[in-house]
Amino acid sequence: MEVLLHKGCGRPESRTMTLRPAGPEDAAAFYALQNEVRAGMPHPEQFVPDTLENIARYLRDDLCIGGWDGGRLGAYFILRYCGQDEHNYAAFMGIPKPAWDGWANADSAIVHPDYRGNGLQRKLLEAALTRLRPGIVGIGATVSPDNQYSLRNALACGFEIVCRREMYGGYDRYLLAKRLK
Ligand SMILES: CC(C)(COP(=O)(O)OP(=O)(O)OC[C@H]1O[C@@H](n2cnc3c(N)ncnc32)[C@H](O)[C@@H]1OP(=O)(O)O)[C@@H](O)C(=O)NCCC(=O)NCCS
Repeated sequence: MEVLLHKGCGRPESRTMTLRPAGPEDAAAFYALQNEVRAGMPHPEQFVPDTLENIARYLRDDLCIGGWDGGRLGAYFILRYCGQDEHNYAAFMGIPKPAWDGWANADSAIVHPDYRGNGLQRKLLEAALTRLRPGIVGIGATVSPDNQYSLRNALACGFEIVCRREMYGGYDRYLLAKRLK
């Protein structure tokens, strides 16, 4: 799917970006983008990075949408089907275990600074919502309370704050949920 960008490198500009599902062949590009963006963050603790191996696995097993400017990956969104795994955010929301299969994790969203300001975090989520595995009734997410950009986007997309708690071995996070049905 093509989306219109009205900003490039912080300046007005008009061009398109292609949002499409990504696969294992995109692992190196996803990993490189993650590392580049995180290295440039003033508060990197707001984003817990992942390994190349895990990202390759998500690209194989889960729903990953990449935003491509020609051959350049400029943004991505990873949604994970955690099912009965203890990492399913449903586990922290008081949702009974038999119902976890209906919940997916909004794992991570990244937009390179060159492409920020085009609402891409929201557009990537919307693109993912049209491709969800049948039976998904809700999406969980975590956001650092200090990550104003991501928090604003999550709330604008219909996520609601469930609680504030420690996650990932000591990081302060809001736990959010978006019910689909
Ligand atoms: C969170 C993130 C994905 C949002 O990117 P985005 O979808 O392009 O953001 P928006 O289009 O909603 O931006 C709205 C405004 O905030 C600005 N903005 C967005 N993210 C910003 C950031 N990290 N730093 C400074 N300004 C930022 C945009 O430039 C835009 O400004 P404008 O209104 O003057 O045009 C992006 O900031 C990012 O990749 N952050 C690092 C990784 C991260 O924290 N991910 C979320 C947790 S998984």
